[in-house]
Amino acid sequence: MQTLPDLPATATATDILRAGLQAADGPVSLACSFSVEDVAIIDLAAEAKLPIGIFALDTGRLNEETYQCAEAVRERYRLPIDWYFPERQAVEALERQKGLFSFFESLENRHECCRIRKVEPLGRALTGLAGWVTGLRREQSVTRALLAPLELDQPHGGIVKINPLIDWSEARLWAYAEERRLPVNRLHRQGYPSIGCAPCTRAVKPGEHPRAGRWWWEDPEHKECGLHK
Ligand code: ADX
Ligand code: SF4
Repeated sequence: MQTLPDLPATATATDILRAGLQAADGPVSLACSFSVEDVAIIDLAAEAKLPIGIFALDTGRLNEETYQCAEAVRERYRLPIDWYFPERQAVEALERQKGLFSFFESLENRHECCRIRKVEPLGRALTGLAGWVTGLRREQSVTRALLAPLELDQPHGGIVKINPLIDWSEARLWAYAEERRLPVNRLHRQGYPSIGCAPCTRAVKPGEHPRAGRWWWEDPEHKECGLHK
């Protein structure tokens, strides 16, 4: 089995990206939700001229602000964005059988919608890649506290998963965004620390946990959608 290099605690986000590219030894792309984390990674990779592609999962339920941010990113960096849409027939069947808001009715229904709109397209996006980059940070949730900067993603065929911002605090991230004048998703300024689908994400109150607005009707340990297992 492939082993991953041990990175020193002093490794920067760019060091992690470089080490990830080397370990993957093949095509690598960033999964981009157009959160400030993901735009920071695009900026870091562009600065260091690293060969990292960008893909985005258009669930069909994203906020208008997210599409606007995507266009701002496309204009600033002049990089192609590979959009993936869910399978048409699966969405049509879901909407015909269960309506447009089935995810509020049960955890099972919520997982079904995430599976159709996010997880299946992610599988297609990862096909042919040797590694993928995410904007995950340990600080974000209990489910992410034990993440490593480089992981072997066994559920996705053992490709390398690269988490360059793993140790970044929110303060550090925003300092970087301001210093580099990044194109920032306007939802962040409206109290959304985390960017997801429009019906399943809301603004948080000051002092509330950053992911409190994601699937706010569920317990914290359920707040994953299957993109990150
Ligand atoms: S989620 O699993 O709860 O939806 P979150 O929104 O915190 O994830 O984002 C974590 C990382 O997952 C992002 O930094 C990004 O790498 C990836 N990601 C999330 N949503 C998308 C999306 N719609 N398209 C592409 N990547 C995404
Ligand atoms: Fe469906 Fe909500 Fe999951 Fe988006 S976050 S895929 S709308 S359940």
